[in-house]
Amino acid sequence: MKYGHFDDDNREYVITNPATPFPWINYLGNEDFFSLISNTAGGYSFYKDAKFRRLNRYRYNNVPMDDGGRYFYIKDGDSVWNPGWKPSKTELDKYECRHGMNYTKIKGEKNGISAEVLFFVPLNTWAEIQKVTLTNTSNEAKKFKFFSYNEWALWNAASDMENFQRNFNTGEVEVEDSVIYHKTEYRERRNHFAYYSVNTEIDGFDTDRETFVGLYNSHEKPQVVLAGQPENSMAHGWSPIASHYIEVELNPGEAKDLIFVLGYVENQEDDKWESKGVINKTKAKEVIAKFNTTAKVEVAFEELRAYWDDILNVFTLESGDDRLDRQVNIWNQYQCMITFNFSRSASYFESGIGRGMGFRDSNQDLLGFVHQAPDRARQRVIDIASTQFPDGGCYHQYQPLTKRGNDEVGGGFNDDPMWLILGVTSYIKESGDYTILDEMVPFDNDESLSQTMFNHLTISFNHVINNLGPNKLPLIGRADWNDCLNLNCFSKDPNESFQTTENNSEGSKAESLMIAGLFVYYGRDYIELCKVLNKNEEATRAQKEVDAMVNAIKENGWDGEWFLRAYDFYGNKIGSKENEEGKIFIESNGWCTMASIGAEEGMCEKALDSVKERLDTKYGIVLNNPAYTKYHIEMGEISTYPPGYKENAGIFCHNNPWIMIGETELGRGDIAYDYYTKIAPAFIEDIQELHKTEPYVYSQMIAGKDAFKPGEAKNSWLTGTAAWNYAAITQHILGIRPALQGLLIDPCIPTKWDGFKVKRKFRGYTLNIEVQNPNHVSKGVREITIDGTKIEGNLIPVLTEGKEYDVIVTLG
Ligand code: BGC
Ligand code: NOJ
Repeated sequence: MKYGHFDDDNREYVITNPATPFPWINYLGNEDFFSLISNTAGGYSFYKDAKFRRLNRYRYNNVPMDDGGRYFYIKDGDSVWNPGWKPSKTELDKYECRHGMNYTKIKGEKNGISAEVLFFVPLNTWAEIQKVTLTNTSNEAKKFKFFSYNEWALWNAASDMENFQRNFNTGEVEVEDSVIYHKTEYRERRNHFAYYSVNTEIDGFDTDRETFVGLYNSHEKPQVVLAGQPENSMAHGWSPIASHYIEVELNPGEAKDLIFVLGYVENQEDDKWESKGVINKTKAKEVIAKFNTTAKVEVAFEELRAYWDDILNVFTLESGDDRLDRQVNIWNQYQCMITFNFSRSASYFESGIGRGMGFRDSNQDLLGFVHQAPDRARQRVIDIASTQFPDGGCYHQYQPLTKRGNDEVGGGFNDDPMWLILGVTSYIKESGDYTILDEMVPFDNDESLSQTMFNHLTISFNHVINNLGPNKLPLIGRADWNDCLNLNCFSKDPNESFQTTENNSEGSKAESLMIAGLFVYYGRDYIELCKVLNKNEEATRAQKEVDAMVNAIKENGWDGEWFLRAYDFYGNKIGSKENEEGKIFIESNGWCTMASIGAEEGMCEKALDSVKERLDTKYGIVLNNPAYTKYHIEMGEISTYPPGYKENAGIFCHNNPWIMIGETELGRGDIAYDYYTKIAPAFIEDIQELHKTEPYVYSQMIAGKDAFKPGEAKNSWLTGTAAWNYAAITQHILGIRPALQGLLIDPCIPTKWDGFKVKRKFRGYTLNIEVQNPNHVSKGVREITIDGTKIEGNLIPVLTEGKEYDVIVTLG
């Protein structure tokens, strides 16, 4: 069964059945103010930080699923319905939800009334606009009752869900004209409040949840809506809400817009009050006035559309396959922006209170985002680097609001530093802006410890070589990229976190082959950077270290048919034919083949053949095999997941591209592309019922072959899968790869392809690239011409800003 389809012209996914296999969500807002919105209008908004500045209450994993959102109720005679079907779930005559680029349109129709709501956050605005269009589609006059509804969260989403002895006393609101203000805790340390307005006179309101919903009712049947009569309740403690009541009359064919604004305001300390106890509403009123007519809202919406036109114009593919084009041109790029904005903080699988911005995650997210808005990437990578420790180790996470490292999690994940080299070099390769290397960047957010960004990179590089184990391979610390391979944890207590427990780490010998491969790969980028900067001594020193690592990998990291994964605390092999379970892993085989380690000796080919034989499945490549079937205390969380799930032999989509890229290094374009299409959302659209999560974005994990339901996905949206698949397809399969000295063209495509076209905006100029494949090869550029003139090699040098060039690439 299919629940919707792509509309590429509008860059939308159109959902036609509201009862999707899981809520299918979208994100509104792209800087500062954000909302999550499901296809039935569930979700919430927040300012910058989903934990500390949560505007609306949302109950995760609730019964029913996805309860809480911005709801509009229509009471038409005895019938009560919502444009998005939920929460009343009254059957609609028509339903449609269109998720677009940072906006969502939800339309319901019943008994001759159509209600369409456009939800979006205008650019540079701290508010969500909800434009409701009510139309009488019948032949008779219609008179009905209209209620809005949203429940306020008491700002800190964590304490909001636990500290009820306090929370039930603190709630405060004000109502003035048609605006409901939520001002809990504003009387003391908060300088912010929220508001919910509508651009018409109202016929009543409610601000107290118990009054509106009824203590023993649910959102499905709020008592005020059933009664068709607001109570004009004022919340004092308990649970404040905001509901407007409007009586609507429409002649046949008549339509009317109601514009609701759900916003957030901050005031200066000395400007908080209008009079004693009355909040200063000036800023809120300004925003409300900015969006109080349909025309104004339409202009703001067009600006948002234009913003996305610009972003998505940087890389445009014409491949002849709609699925690939929509993947590359629209949805994958969109998901990359979302992961850049949120890292792993707020989705329908990430509660917004557990994790802020990840160090490794955010650096990797940059890879898929940097071409969209290099200036934002620049600021981000500086923020990230500012949380690094002076010895090169890194806070594993930081809070977006404070930009400070998170002490609860701390550091000790030894892959983290290398990802900073990825973040910074990706930025320079895209932008050509080397000044970032001279920026003074703090350590541990302490300005007095600032050093240049270049030094941060050197210190990152050195962190790996300062932490080598007995096999001359990198010590893993708490974990490398695989957070669940906890080789220094040895946890027996279910109340401990695998990520932060380090019972036995002192003197640990556990080493990671993944960090080893990562070090070689990004170490080479670091060397290249040093050379471009004429730091030749440093380049020579670094080269020696990289060569030594390559040797250590070949000597101590090769298992005969693939690369080992790690050495454990006791020096035993992990990911070896000698093991009974977990004989082979994806990560080390990805990174070592990406770095072509031992390619001359045939190691890469062998390793990737082994991956194909042992890890490849119909739905993607599993992380390890055989899956662990019991808890191995010396390995940690990986062995806690039932076989086939998550890091224990799930198809962890984040690392599939590492194998794709490894395959392109070998020149095996058919295999690389086959792996790509197995997990790319647009290619598996027809298994939506099994797949379950949104068919337009990647999920972190698809259940592996050992799972109960192979092919079922979980944890959609916020995953490094987005950036890595974007990199795999655009930079390695299509082979259009930003480099320090220009744009490298090195495709590795399926042999049956005749070619493809890409329009690429790069460093201020435009390249119309046409790749031709007359001999049906996968890899190997025979000739490149720019505006008819042949160039040497396959690097397009830096060209003139503002110009457009025709580039013909012939393979074979
Ligand atoms: C998950 C990992 C995640 C880690 C840290 C684990 O339970 O399986 O994917 O990175 O927690 O939050
Ligand atoms: C999700 C985490 O966000 C990421 O940091 C980690 O690398 C992967 N899970 C793999 O465990």
